[in-house]
Amino acid sequence: ELDDLQERFDATIAAEQRIEPRDWMPEAYRRTLIRQIGQHAHSEIIGMQPEGNWITRAPSLKRKSILMAKVQDEAGHGLYLYSAAETLGIDRTTMTEQLIDGTAKYSSIFNYPTPTWADMGAIGWLVDGAAICNQVPLCRASYGPYGRAMVRICKEESFHQRQGFEILYELSHGTPAQHRMAQEAVDRWWWPALMMFGPPDADSPNTAQSMEWKIKRFTNDELRQRFIDMSVPQAEVLGLALPDPDLRWNEATGHYDSGEIDWTEFTEVLKGRGPCNALRVSNRRRAHEGGAWVREAAAAYAQKQAARAAA
Ligand code: ACO
Repeated sequence: ELDDLQERFDATIAAEQRIEPRDWMPEAYRRTLIRQIGQHAHSEIIGMQPEGNWITRAPSLKRKSILMAKVQDEAGHGLYLYSAAETLGIDRTTMTEQLIDGTAKYSSIFNYPTPTWADMGAIGWLVDGAAICNQVPLCRASYGPYGRAMVRICKEESFHQRQGFEILYELSHGTPAQHRMAQEAVDRWWWPALMMFGPPDADSPNTAQSMEWKIKRFTNDELRQRFIDMSVPQAEVLGLALPDPDLRWNEATGHYDSGEIDWTEFTEVLKGRGPCNALRVSNRRRAHEGGAWVREAAAAYAQKQAARAAA
């Protein structure tokens, strides 16, 4: 019986068809998806904070409304993804508790500060650019609800990336002080953006199995390289330098060679010791606790409606 189920699951994956919530799936596949989708959802929710920091200080009404729309998109992505994770048998309350008690992972990138307006540009260009690179292949993830959620999310991420690029372009071609501000933001975000793709393949415990299951379609290093190759010509258009003296075109490989990533920094951030980890989690906890009365009121209202319907 179990062999039959496993066989059908394997055949579905091999045929590039989708696994849906009511289908049988190996427990490890379910756990991997809960882990990845849960972390992804948390990243979107925590990711609202670095940019939320600038909503009240955006330099114009137009910039402010764009930034607000983008941060709201991120909230939407988080909720979509929590719903996708819930189809696997975990509930959002549990995931939220794991996030606010500091036991859940979320992307390392959101633990860095945003001291200037140019950071809004660098986040859009580099962070959302890296996110697209990583997430477009996830549209073909073997788990239906995840793949379908990624389609809409990627469309919105493309808009986010373009708005970031445009902020940096304007600053880069503005006054010398604005140009410097743009360059400093790129200097701050380049290396952390490369770390978003995860550890090098040799140190990535999950990649091989996730690729076999067709959740991931490319390895961490493959996607990181694709992002570097994409970014170099875009930086030229922006008139900004990427802060890596070892970046150079390699005729033989057809890719850019690049310098060594500081993996110690990555490990520190993952352990909760990045520049803003404590702040991000405590803000999230405070917001969740502050919303308790809304959840209570909604539950009381639902109960009243149910009682009325039953009467
Ligand atoms: N930040 C935090 N944790 C990370 C990061 C990162 N940048 N990269 C890897 N990790 C964690 C993994 O979650 C895993 O931890 P766990 O086993 O305790 O859960 C561990 O490091 C080892 O990494 P891998 O074996 O490479 O893990 P995985 O196969 O899950 O690959 C990756 C990591 C590429 C991030 C994958 O989970 C993924 O594609 N996730 C979906 C995209 C996503 O979450 N993006 C969020 C940021 S983008 C945005 O929200 C705008």
